[in-house]
Amino acid sequence: MTDQNTQHPLAMLDSTRAFIAAPRRMLIDGEWRESETGETIDVINPADASVLCRVPGASERDVDLAVRAARRAFDDSAWSRMKPTDRERLLLRAADAIEAHAREFAELEALDNGKSAAVAEALDVSMAAQCFRYMAGWATKIEGSTVDASIPYSPSNAYFGYTRKEAVGVVGAIIPWNFPLLMAAWKLAPALAAGCTVVLKPAEDTPLSALRLGELLQETGFPAGVVNIITGYGRTAGAALAKHPGLDKIAFTGSTPTGKAIGHAALDNMTRMSLELGGKSPVIVLPDVDIERAAEGVANAIFFNSGQVCTAGSRVYVHEKVFDRVMERVAAIADSMKLGPGLDPSTQIGPLVSARQLDRVLGYIDAGHAEGARAIAGGARGDGTGFFVKPTVLVDTDHSMRVVREEIFGPVLVAMRFSDTDAVVKQANDTPYGLGASIWSNDLAQVHKLIPRIKAGTVWVNCHSLLDNAVPFGGFKQSGFGRELGRAALDMYTETKSVLINHA
Ligand code: NAI
Ligand code: MG
Repeated sequence: MTDQNTQHPLAMLDSTRAFIAAPRRMLIDGEWRESETGETIDVINPADASVLCRVPGASERDVDLAVRAARRAFDDSAWSRMKPTDRERLLLRAADAIEAHAREFAELEALDNGKSAAVAEALDVSMAAQCFRYMAGWATKIEGSTVDASIPYSPSNAYFGYTRKEAVGVVGAIIPWNFPLLMAAWKLAPALAAGCTVVLKPAEDTPLSALRLGELLQETGFPAGVVNIITGYGRTAGAALAKHPGLDKIAFTGSTPTGKAIGHAALDNMTRMSLELGGKSPVIVLPDVDIERAAEGVANAIFFNSGQVCTAGSRVYVHEKVFDRVMERVAAIADSMKLGPGLDPSTQIGPLVSARQLDRVLGYIDAGHAEGARAIAGGARGDGTGFFVKPTVLVDTDHSMRVVREEIFGPVLVAMRFSDTDAVVKQANDTPYGLGASIWSNDLAQVHKLIPRIKAGTVWVNCHSLLDNAVPFGGFKQSGFGRELGRAALDMYTETKSVLINHA
């Protein structure tokens, strides 16, 4: 690892350079603070393993301060008395502020996570801004219902019933490192639209964009304590947040094992929870496909964001009639992809986020080889000191292998062939996960037969991993609880209060 303040040969904005030039602090109750223990965490650039800057490592006491600040802001401040139209206005301003700093956010994501800045600007940052704008609209549309009650044991009285949707309260949000800014937006925007206050913990591997967002939200005019951003390790700060009795709700995106630990901690306090967890999403290619289009779709489904996507199409099932032709093209696409740092505009595949993920993914590739799988593309680490893995396609795989059963979270595809619909449904569903799936075909009857049989929160047809702020997103089975985005997101940040009025 090289020293701090390594010279970055690739062009970046002065504002990006300035942001990483000094140690960052975390946002608690409207103030930028160090950890009370003085602990810091090195922020690593995965493209060359250099240290970009440092952030505080929050302690249990820091977490407690942040939760208390969020509680005060929820109970007492101008925030709790704010009209929905004013919350809407703040969220719209936040969206504008994100867009105004789009390139800076994209560069921070490229430096901290490794992803392409060009892709991040077009996708992560614009989706994050749109998420704030979309959720802003809901702030004024949170509605209950009216009920004409007919209570049989009280015939002489007349009752009118109605429901109110009230903000759930103080939200703890723990997010992963694969889409740092976007995941922050997915948690913050609906929580704030509903009138909640938030303690957000970004992943220790990618804290920078959330801290920059915290600055912009402050400038936008969110009152102190409404948004708190603490940086820290999962096992300390994350665990302290998950078990904090001062939370009303915890929202998590990350791995299934961590999600289960958070769920257990939350249940002890009866804290409401939503969990968006891992996946091993199948891609099903039917025999009528255009070979080139299908191959590009299959390659994008796995290699986008270096495979570090919860819905990554990491298992492909190709009909035996077209298997060889499709997979030969997928392998050629994989071989042609240019590895490089996210700030290089020609990069097609960036490094993995951390040395730990590099080891994990290389370990899976080794396990695949040991179990008899054969790489028709990649299968090894990329060149240089960065955490690069060559886009890898494994064939001769079956459902007994770890590479087929477990979430790898890297640019590694396992490919299998099938001969009939019943068999491919069985294979696609033979997983503990149920986040996404895609079907590639223009055979309408086949596609419609398959959709209800696939156990997944989202089924894409002739596309994969596409998201829209208006379309609910979440998992079946061990991929989690709850739905983010769309109107469904509001349900996760509100409680229903029922009111009965005797007006006899
Ligand atoms: P992780 O799920 O442990 O980390 C995600 C977030 O949870 C981070 O903010 C982390 O600090 C926090 N965290 C970790 N342990 C915690 C605990 N005990 N209590 C509270 N918070 C905690 O994921 P990790 O370890 O970074 O990656 C390991 C694997 O997880 C990956 O290889 C991948 O398979 C999966 N993963 C899945 C993601 C998804 O979007 N489905 C995102 C990130 C990782
Ligand atoms: Mg990093």
